[in-house]
Amino acid sequence: ARTLGELGRRAGVRIGTAVDMSALAADAPYREKAATEFSSVTPENVMKWEAVEAVRGTYTWGPADDLVDFARDNHQLVRGHTLVWHSQLPGWLTSGSFTADELRDILHRHITDEVKHFKGHIWQWDVVNEAFNDDGTLRDSVWLRNLGPGYIADAFRWAHEADPKAELYINDYNIEGVNPKSTALLALVTELKAQHVPIDGVGVQGHLAVQYPAPHDIADNLARFDALGLDTAITEADVRMVMPADATKTEAQAEGYSVLLQGCLLTEHCTDFTVWGFTDKYSWVPNTFSGQGSANLLTEDYRPKPAYTALRQDL
Ligand code: XIL
Repeated sequence: ARTLGELGRRAGVRIGTAVDMSALAADAPYREKAATEFSSVTPENVMKWEAVEAVRGTYTWGPADDLVDFARDNHQLVRGHTLVWHSQLPGWLTSGSFTADELRDILHRHITDEVKHFKGHIWQWDVVNEAFNDDGTLRDSVWLRNLGPGYIADAFRWAHEADPKAELYINDYNIEGVNPKSTALLALVTELKAQHVPIDGVGVQGHLAVQYPAPHDIADNLARFDALGLDTAITEADVRMVMPADATKTEAQAEGYSVLLQGCLLTEHCTDFTVWGFTDKYSWVPNTFSGQGSANLLTEDYRPKPAYTALRQDL
């Protein structure tokens, strides 16, 4: 039987997964699935700022380098995740007191050093992650507060300078459908393109829940970005449910995954469909959404769920 990655190749789209590096080291079946089922990978945590520079000026690249090696061995592309975010920042940065000029230098150096370290090995970078609130205003963060909204354009320029060949993305959640947040993002990327800021794509995370409506207008939404000449991707798909799981919720979950994938397949320059983990054995969901879980394509013992079958049928 062909893998999702192989089926995706015929459809012209990479099928990826986020990779948990502890699971990859410890769990042979996990490693086997990660290696064979997918044609791209995203580090779930190990390229985030708190992971690469927990101590100021001392870089820890080992775990992320391991993923780059794993991807090369398995003929996979790597999505770099993520350079500028309000979350998972190192303690020295969040608890330090810095002037705006210092913060600008700190951010510039972080982007330059990280992108250069992985230069030539990253297909797409999530340069800026989760910059918006759901109402379409820019999210309050150390970056917006101190550098102003121009930090977004600067981040793209700095990343491009460090690796001119990497594709550069802005990434966010709750932007699957047409809504105030996705429309505000559209306005921002329109402006960035007009200013010749080096941005290549928009990443739609795709964290859904069966208890909320599925974003059936995702293709209409992605078409708006496509029309600007931008690539798009589903970067973090999962479909959680209130526990315990049952057959109805598990079928609704398959529908949710399918809506996301079909939105991508209907969009000319949708490059990639990445799931945020592939087995219920390792998932961020139970730790983040109390009482929820079972969000992934495979059970805890790696058996396929209806969502896995649905994706295969769509491809
Ligand atoms: C999550 C990881 O899955 C968790 O392991 C970690 O504790 C917190 O971050 N949006 C993103 C991802 O862009 O980086 C987040 O990943 C999930 C939400």
